[in-house]
Amino acid sequence: MGHIEPQRLWNEYDRPHADLREAIERLERAGELRRIRGAHWNLEMGALAEIVYREESPPAILFEDIPGYPKGFRAISGATNSAKRLAILLGFPAPSHPLDVVRAYRDRMKSHKPIPPRVVTDGPVLQNVEKNQINVLKFPAPLLHEHDGGRYIGTDDLVIMRDPEQNWVNCGTYRAMVQGPDRVGLWMSPGKHGRQIREKYWKRGLPCPVLISCGHDPLLFLAGGNEIRFGLSEYDYAAGHRGMPYDVIESELYRLPMPAHAEIVLEGAMHPGETAPEGPFGEFTGYYAGGRSPQPVMRVERIYHRDDPILGLACPMVPPSDFSYSKCVMKAGMIWDEVERAGLAGVRGVWVHEPGCARMFNVISIKQAYAGHARQAAVLAASCQSGAYLGRFVVVVDDDIDPANLDQVIWAMCTRCDPSEDIDFIRRAWSGPLDPRLPKGVTWNSRAIIDACRPFEMLGDFPPVVTASAELRDRVRRKFADQIKKR
Ligand SMILES: Cc1cc2nc3c(=O)[nH]c(=O)nc-3n(C[C@H](O)[C@H](O)[C@H](O)COP(=O)(O)O)c2cc1C
Repeated sequence: MGHIEPQRLWNEYDRPHADLREAIERLERAGELRRIRGAHWNLEMGALAEIVYREESPPAILFEDIPGYPKGFRAISGATNSAKRLAILLGFPAPSHPLDVVRAYRDRMKSHKPIPPRVVTDGPVLQNVEKNQINVLKFPAPLLHEHDGGRYIGTDDLVIMRDPEQNWVNCGTYRAMVQGPDRVGLWMSPGKHGRQIREKYWKRGLPCPVLISCGHDPLLFLAGGNEIRFGLSEYDYAAGHRGMPYDVIESELYRLPMPAHAEIVLEGAMHPGETAPEGPFGEFTGYYAGGRSPQPVMRVERIYHRDDPILGLACPMVPPSDFSYSKCVMKAGMIWDEVERAGLAGVRGVWVHEPGCARMFNVISIKQAYAGHARQAAVLAASCQSGAYLGRFVVVVDDDIDPANLDQVIWAMCTRCDPSEDIDFIRRAWSGPLDPRLPKGVTWNSRAIIDACRPFEMLGDFPPVVTASAELRDRVRRKFADQIKKR
């Protein structure tokens, strides 16, 4: 075991879930899973994800009996996408407010230590190893939206590559489109670690070896789909959360580490200059901004999979989607942790709002201690690794405002912020082709940082807030208990 006491983390269980299957069992036991039978890969799984994710408190969905596929072949959507699911998976106490999980994450990060994987020689992923007649469509890769350019085998995936200079292993979630039985296209935005690594191989004229895991422990998805700092392997980071290392098996051809308990892993390489038209794909902003463009192709040379494999599925759409809530929580926790590591004091909460596509409308609340504190918080939250890519608005509020409560945030913006004084811009910041507001070819945008705190010099005489005191409210609530709504 690693440094974290399992009893403290996994209070309901004596250890973290071993793999995706055990995680699904735990989610189902907690009432967080719905089984849907008979949904077709051709648009039905995508439409069902959209329908279910318009419900209040939507569950994870396990798609079973997928037409045209063997009975045991399944797909899972939304495994990480509620506060309760995140608490179960990450081993946090049951949350009663969205910020509880964010705070638990930030507290965890104070003692979090990365744990490198343990190399083993056998594991369930080797139950089936295919070397000939490769066909990635033996799995129910969905066509998610009507205008998508193809079926996507990788949506909730882990694209695993080794940095040829520094020898560390990056695992990122990048969409993977089926281009043919043994060809998969990978879309990686400029600046993403996988793209930087691929560029290093190609600049030397070398093929870039790659594994794509298409079903795995949801903690690996949380790591792969969020901006972990360059140089830290998502394997080590995710293992630090579970308090024990991941077992990995070296792949046969390129010796890349694959999760021993993964459901499906593709192995191959992207050859210099080899591209094929990729997309369009319905994206997390709710648009088809990326369109269709030539993107690198992986030649798939091996398929490893468990018996009755479970394909991971993440269906982007106009938010909320089947992964947007989990991104909000993770990103909020990561921003909180990173701004504190950069030296910022007085942070009381961070929230990343779902309608902002889990990236574009982020709020940080602080207890102001000095003039300039609020702008410092805003600039850090807008520029740290987890807050930088494709951001748009960062709002700083005082500590009496709940950053997760949009009504309160908008009230603070309208009453404490003088636009010409209190809105600044960061220009030429990191964005990408998926930003629907950018002209073709431009991959940078601007950020508005909105200081919605009372000006520091006015703190002493800012007009008081009109609200009944807690004592008055309690007294009146008790007196009229039979005539008002229970809290
Ligand atoms: C469901 C999901 C799908 C994603 N798809 C892509 C994608 O196709 N391309 C991309 O560049 N980033 C995508 N992202 C964002 C990256 O996974 C994220 O920026 C991550 O930090 C990338 O890993 P890296 O930091 O190692 O580059 C996706 C994230 C999620 C959660």
